[in-house]
Amino acid sequence: MKQADLIWMNGELVAWEDAKVHVLTHALHYGTGVFEGIRAYETPRGTAIFRHADHVERLFKSAGMYLMDIPYSREEIRAATHETIIRNGLRSCYIRPLVFRGAGPMGLFPLDCPVDVTIAVWEWGAYLGDEGKQRGVRGKVSSFRRISSAAVIPAAKATGQYVNSVLAKIEVDKAGYEEAILLDDRGMVCEGSGENLFIVRDGVISTPGFAADILGGINRASAITIARDLGYEVVERDIARGELYLADEIFMTGTAAELTPLREVDDRPVGSGEPGEVTRSVQRAFEDALHGRSDRYAEWLDVVEVPARTA
Ligand SMILES: Cc1ncc(COP(=O)(O)O)c(C=O)c1O
Repeated sequence: MKQADLIWMNGELVAWEDAKVHVLTHALHYGTGVFEGIRAYETPRGTAIFRHADHVERLFKSAGMYLMDIPYSREEIRAATHETIIRNGLRSCYIRPLVFRGAGPMGLFPLDCPVDVTIAVWEWGAYLGDEGKQRGVRGKVSSFRRISSAAVIPAAKATGQYVNSVLAKIEVDKAGYEEAILLDDRGMVCEGSGENLFIVRDGVISTPGFAADILGGINRASAITIARDLGYEVVERDIARGELYLADEIFMTGTAAELTPLREVDDRPVGSGEPGEVTRSVQRAFEDALHGRSDRYAEWLDVVEVPARTA
């Protein structure tokens, strides 16, 4: 991980090393935080944040689901993010806004604790590797089921909920695989540890819907739009585990992993064992959208206005 210079903390930019919290921060003990993962890319129009407004909206929705009032407006969070990128001099980066219950009264009831907000940015390459994006990665169904609506709020991107993904990730990593696939409470396919999942069979693309306790991925929504624009049929439906083994193609989407094909699931090759044509064509259009090479999806980009240098 390549460190940047400054982190935005409750309205101020502080040195990376000084962005610290008290050990009695409520969120450290009870996972009472919400966050986002966002990327900015170098594009022909300058540095641009992909679907920024959608990410900020999800951050506010996640906070709302945990009854946290963010002490800034959406526009203030957007402007703070721009400022953090500009002041760190980054042309492309990963962006991590975090809203959490800070140090205050201990105990489970969080509503009397302050709500702290930070925005960190850093340079971050493809999460599952550039080779993974090209050749596909090896996935394994985890023995840990995805958190269910019966216990928490899977639609919220909440920090504490991520112990679920962490357990799944450790399990499959130790078993020699690159990514975990989690089934939902019912045993239906849900998603990766940090990505949504799509299967392709006989030219039709299917992906689990909210009834499978997915996180509503912003890249999932983008991939659905792009695939439909390319003329593919996309169906949101329950997917049985066995369909992973019958699929011609499987791919995953997420801000960190972007669009990454799966070439193997549970030691069984997916289709021919190489990313297929449907995956490739959606991936190409998706990469074009991310990097500002596509007029059609230009409105998905929030261009960061880097001030002109004064002599
Ligand atoms: C559990 C989980 N599912 C899905 C996703 C994909 O979401 P997005 O495309 O908005 O990054 C993520 C990443 O944020 C995630 O952590």
